[in-house]
Amino acid sequence: MSGEHKGGLEDVVVSTSDICLIDGNEGRLVYRGYDVDELVEHSSFEEVVYLLWHGGLPTRKELVAHTRALASTANRRLPPKLLAILRALPRKTTPMEVLRTGVSALSAFDPDAADNSRDATLRKSIRLTAQLPTLVAAWERIRRGKTPVAPDPRLGLAANFLAMMRGARPSPLAVKTFDVGLILHADHEFNASTFAARVTAATLSDVHSAITSAIGALKGPLHGGANEQVMRMVERIKTPVRAEAWIRKALADKARVMGFGHRVYRVEDPRARHLRRLATELGRQTGDTSAVEILDIVARLVSADKHIYPNVDLYSGAAYASMGIPTDAFTPIFAISRVAGWTAHVMEQHANNRLIRPRSEYTGSTHLAYVPLDRR
Ligand code: COA
Repeated sequence: MSGEHKGGLEDVVVSTSDICLIDGNEGRLVYRGYDVDELVEHSSFEEVVYLLWHGGLPTRKELVAHTRALASTANRRLPPKLLAILRALPRKTTPMEVLRTGVSALSAFDPDAADNSRDATLRKSIRLTAQLPTLVAAWERIRRGKTPVAPDPRLGLAANFLAMMRGARPSPLAVKTFDVGLILHADHEFNASTFAARVTAATLSDVHSAITSAIGALKGPLHGGANEQVMRMVERIKTPVRAEAWIRKALADKARVMGFGHRVYRVEDPRARHLRRLATELGRQTGDTSAVEILDIVARLVSADKHIYPNVDLYSGAAYASMGIPTDAFTPIFAISRVAGWTAHVMEQHANNRLIRPRSEYTGSTHLAYVPLDRR
């Protein structure tokens, strides 16, 4: 790398956008002008989806119509042939692989698949946002040898997802917590998966292709996969009394501790604060606060030692685990929410498109003489 660029496109501004602002020094996250702290307090995930797609808060009438569209069985249900594809997959297939495959396959059943107009992309975005929870929950049931639970149009997205996953009505606190988790993950500017979506959309490819790209990028442990790794760490630590020794050894070994650090935030990620509070409340309700206690000890020691702070992935897993969600479904849940932001970015990209095609600084040889095969 030459001295001019730091690698990883750090601090490189590739485009303007009206969707999301991250103030990494103040620890603020803003969607379309509204602070997430306000949205967490007053809004629902469905309303935030409207905000991201349309650029402003809905009227009551608009919100009712939008929520109804996201909840309708026509939009939430999976085509029976897609369920047959899921059933044909090996049971060991991870939920993230299933999501990537499922979203790609859904385009084959979508009546608007080839239409990239704003109206068609909006219809497809509604369907994708409605279908992703059904897909994740259906796989959870299928891999356990159970029948998928049909979506319930009377329930909001959070309650319906939890009901489809567990086959039982979730508690109001679980629904509220899950909904806030969805709001907090809905968008995050030009993160790796969103950028992947925009790069794909910028070739004038369709929204299903863009979301499939995004899911592939989200899967990695440096991005959405971090919340699963945090929970694996909690499982290895086992009890709060073991946490200090465990993390001191990890720090001495120069290990990368998942759930900490961020390319943009220089202070604590504002999302981590909300998720910590909710994970604590849920832990109290279920009578097991040990995961949060372990994470608090880890957070104190890592922050003091490395001056890096908790990110969104540190406490989200503890909250999901309290709801009985298996660890390998945490990243798909991230996708259930982030699809709102990804699709908003695809629409913004298409509205003012230019092919995204950067350059590399070539550092290889330039004038090698070709050596015939039998003389090498
Ligand atoms: N644990 C230990 N050290 C960390 C760290 C972590 N989680 N995150 C950053 N660091 C350290 C690096 O070792 C590096 O130190 P050095 O300069 O002494 O080598 C320095 O902080 C900068 O790290 P770098 O990897 O260059 O930062 P980045 O901007 O490329 O990476 C992340 C950002 C998010 C990929 C990185 O912080 C990370 O890997 N975090 C863990 C994964 C995670 O939680 N991802 C979810 C993000 S929301």
